[in-house]
Amino acid sequence: MKDVAARAGVSLGTVSNALNRPEQVSDHTRRRVEAAIEALGFVRNESARQLRSGRSRTLAYVLLDAGNPFFTDVARGVEETAEAAGRAVFLCNSGDSPDRQASYLDLLEQQRVEGVLITPVGRAQERLERLRRRGIPVVVVDRDAGEGFCSVNADDRAGGGLAAEHLLELGHDRIALVGGPTSIGQVADRFAGARDAAAAAGATEPLLLETAGLNVVEGRRAGERLAGLPAARRPTAAFCANDLLALGLLQRMVRLGLDVPGDLAIVGYDDIEFAEAAAVPLTSVAQPRQQLGRTAAELLLEEAQGDPAHRHRNISFTPELMVRASTRAT
Ligand code: RIB
Repeated sequence: MKDVAARAGVSLGTVSNALNRPEQVSDHTRRRVEAAIEALGFVRNESARQLRSGRSRTLAYVLLDAGNPFFTDVARGVEETAEAAGRAVFLCNSGDSPDRQASYLDLLEQQRVEGVLITPVGRAQERLERLRRRGIPVVVVDRDAGEGFCSVNADDRAGGGLAAEHLLELGHDRIALVGGPTSIGQVADRFAGARDAAAAAGATEPLLLETAGLNVVEGRRAGERLAGLPAARRPTAAFCANDLLALGLLQRMVRLGLDVPGDLAIVGYDDIEFAEAAAVPLTSVAQPRQQLGRTAAELLLEEAQGDPAHRHRNISFTPELMVRASTRAT
């Protein structure tokens, strides 16, 4: 900075203003500083700036699974709001690993990011409270975090009800619920909504096919299990806890020569881009993914600005059913 000031013939404070408060210097002075920066190849030391000011202009989103387009769509919404507010975003993929999540949270604390958005592995309540006690606000994405934090999600129980009601209206009485582990709150809530709808319609109790994860491989495995059931007992419809499972199930059904929806109607959840693009376009319960991200980032920036009127709250969106060929007889 001193070399830049000397070359531009201005004070150190003027260089700092040109970088951090350009509205406080004339165009002529700012151009001289920029020319000196260019000539010397100066790169500001953001860590040093943060140490001086005690604050960074960076948010972080710790997402659960970078292989699931649901989370990258949410991240796009986070970035849109953050960039409009002049912030950068660190995207951290916990990969459903508590250890990796803990490492990222330690790193983000050391980096003194302005705030953390997270879809946590498990509860992580104590670690998130410690982060906030140390002056870094936290917003939980994709679930209701209770009293202590702001959070955004979509109503998973209502979404499960939409899926089951659609299948029941099509005349399906034997419905499979594909997904797991059911210890995951979103999965449990979606299946609870589906069971409520089946009970309200006087239909058979849905058959649970619990999976070890929410991905394409587990969807294929569920397809093998369903295809192995005697035809008389085999469900005629499957509601999957997310689209990756549904796409794996769909692929296996086609591979086994079974017709979708004729032999098995399939409903997914999230309505990611690949749902509509599937070989048999997938009926899915749509979550407002980018809106979830934008809203979470807005809540985080509001809390980070220290507004005394800020109150922790949960913002919950209503899911919507997108009907396509995987359930509708063509
Ligand atoms: O984490 C897996 C699932 O939970 C995603 O597909 C999305 O549905 C989220 O709510």
